Amino acid sequence: MPPPDPPPPSLNSIPAELVAEAGRLRDEIRRHDRLYHALDRPEIEDSAYDALKRELRGLEQRHPGLASADSPTRTVGAPASAAFSPVEHGAPMLSLDNVFDAGEMEEFDRRLAALLDDHEGERVYSAEPKLDGVALSLFYERGVLVRAATRGDGRTGEDVTHTALTIKSLPLRLSGGNIPDRVEIRGEVFMPLGAFKRYNEEAEKDRAEGGKRKPLVNPRNAAAGALRQKDAALAAQRSLEFFAHGLGLAEPMPAASGQTALLDLMKSWGLKPCPQAECVTGMAGCAEYYERILAGREDFDYALDGVVFKLDRFDLRDQAGASSHAPRWAVARKFPAEERTTTVRAIEYQVGRTGALTPVARLEPVFVGGATVSNATLHNYGELLRKDVREGDTVVVRRAGDVIPEVVRSLPERRKGNPPVPPLPERCPECSSEVARPEDEAVARCTGGLICPAQRKAAILHFASRQAMDIEGLGEVLASQLVEQGLVESPADLYSLAADQLNSLERMADKSSDNILESVERSKSTSLARFLYALGIRDVGRITAGGLARHFGNLRALRGASEEELREVSDVGEIVARRVHGFFRHEDNLRVIESLRRHGVDWPESQRASAQQAGPLSGKTLVLTGTLEGMSRDEARERIVAAGGRVTSSVSKKTDYLVAGASPGSKRAKAEQLGVELIGRAQLLSLLEAQ
Ligand code: IVH
Repeated sequence: MPPPDPPPPSLNSIPAELVAEAGRLRDEIRRHDRLYHALDRPEIEDSAYDALKRELRGLEQRHPGLASADSPTRTVGAPASAAFSPVEHGAPMLSLDNVFDAGEMEEFDRRLAALLDDHEGERVYSAEPKLDGVALSLFYERGVLVRAATRGDGRTGEDVTHTALTIKSLPLRLSGGNIPDRVEIRGEVFMPLGAFKRYNEEAEKDRAEGGKRKPLVNPRNAAAGALRQKDAALAAQRSLEFFAHGLGLAEPMPAASGQTALLDLMKSWGLKPCPQAECVTGMAGCAEYYERILAGREDFDYALDGVVFKLDRFDLRDQAGASSHAPRWAVARKFPAEERTTTVRAIEYQVGRTGALTPVARLEPVFVGGATVSNATLHNYGELLRKDVREGDTVVVRRAGDVIPEVVRSLPERRKGNPPVPPLPERCPECSSEVARPEDEAVARCTGGLICPAQRKAAILHFASRQAMDIEGLGEVLASQLVEQGLVESPADLYSLAADQLNSLERMADKSSDNILESVERSKSTSLARFLYALGIRDVGRITAGGLARHFGNLRALRGASEEELREVSDVGEIVARRVHGFFRHEDNLRVIESLRRHGVDWPESQRASAQQAGPLSGKTLVLTGTLEGMSRDEARERIVAAGGRVTSSVSKKTDYLVAGASPGSKRAKAEQLGVELIGRAQLLSLLEAQ
């Protein structure tokens, strides 16, 4: 056994004024480190800084008992080499489940109560604004900030200490008592709205004067981008802030009985929790808090996208536990998408891949939902009529997260004069073919098919897209040129392009034409699922294409399938079956497929897949209806299939569950009639996780 370490020299033997002096020097040096490295705002000359360090080093050498592992004589600020290197979190950084209305909130509370030993009475929640920022984990060792890391995948994040140090509200050293030896402080980094506005005003001014400063898109991206800057001085320009809202690993666990006590404790350590955090009781308390924060949403200097309710008592949290991705004792109640009014400058039409004419409102630019919006979709002509949108109108626009901005409604009471209802164009704006709108359909379409350059371009772009044939380098500009020059009529023509044809296009360098030809060549070896998706059969998205490929295993079987056989495939209903069946009965389509095959487009063939994947939903058939907030249809389908389940499009006696989101359609009534079990989003999530 090695001999035990000698006892550390006791601080008691060193005069108190020297201990205080060393402490003062360390704090002073740390302050200058931060001013120099992180804020790019040094206050003293290098020589004066060196003198401070020399003084401290001398003191520590003369009195070894003063030395400490975290002294700036031993540590360096944040070495640039550590930037962005992986950091394993001491405790996982979980996400939160979302609810979207009072009903879902009550469902959450009931589910939570059932997990607790004592489920009588009302629960006390810590209520906090949900900041729309970036999650950060700060690791303090013996009270000293050692590292700051992003969330990453929840287990491993990225080291962003160098940029996190620019956050002024972030203490380098925790003060006060009851500080664990090792502790991860969890919280949110954000760019205050005032700072965001000022930054963009200055950027505008700079650009007007010929400078290169770019305006920031929105405060959230600005914060995320700031943390990921290599150069901390650039991050410092964004005036980031940090609000602490919880702990990760803590050794030893500090004595706090619940969230409210913890927030107070963190405050005493010098951290800043969100000032609007408070304790509320029961569903009435939660609802009142939600309404109040929502009403005051505009008054805060930070962007909020909801409020978070966390069971206050830690002992109860232990009883509730967590799933792999979120705690069962907390939930985020999201705000509805932000809405703003602006005016319609013009209404124009875009022609999509299937010829659908989408009316688009060109708007007076408006900042909504965290981004500046100048175009908003009106979805289709039926929608335009229903919402009665006319040129010059004041309209309400909405944008939620990454969703395409849309016109919610028009405000005809603010209309000046009586502008005409915008007529549906009789001819396609791209190819002048006739526009048709079947009586019972909302969508108007160009009847030009592949003679319409807009449809042709869109079909080529779709064919080449990453999820389809993945032809790198074939973007919008090239697709337009190829179609306009008459070099490509159908996707099959891509495979007979020659280098000199590409070189003849404007702004095409030899090297890039070689690259394009190479990626075209590479795309020949693909999978049946990608190929089917790439063909652009109406209503056949990636998931359906995957389902068809798995079910039939090869193109021959699929081509020969009847509508009934097609409907056996998960997620294929009457309409999709008709479309797929029809597609393979169309001469032109078969010719394109033949030509693609002749050019060498190929994939490994397989047998029909019979067994479904094993998982918690094995053997179960689910139908989706309504909007599953926070989860797209595709995502829901993908997760159900990954869990071994089947998704079909219509409710029958064979359906095991109808997953009903907001505003469910007639499927709900049908399910109730047939006695099919109805479940909500939250229950779907628990089913997916059940083992
Ligand atoms: S608590 C285990 N509290 O929201 C609990 N998160 O959607 C996890 N967020 O990753 C988080 N404000 O980045 C919590 N007051 C708050 C929050 C908050 C914003 C973020 C956080 C989290 C995400 C989950």
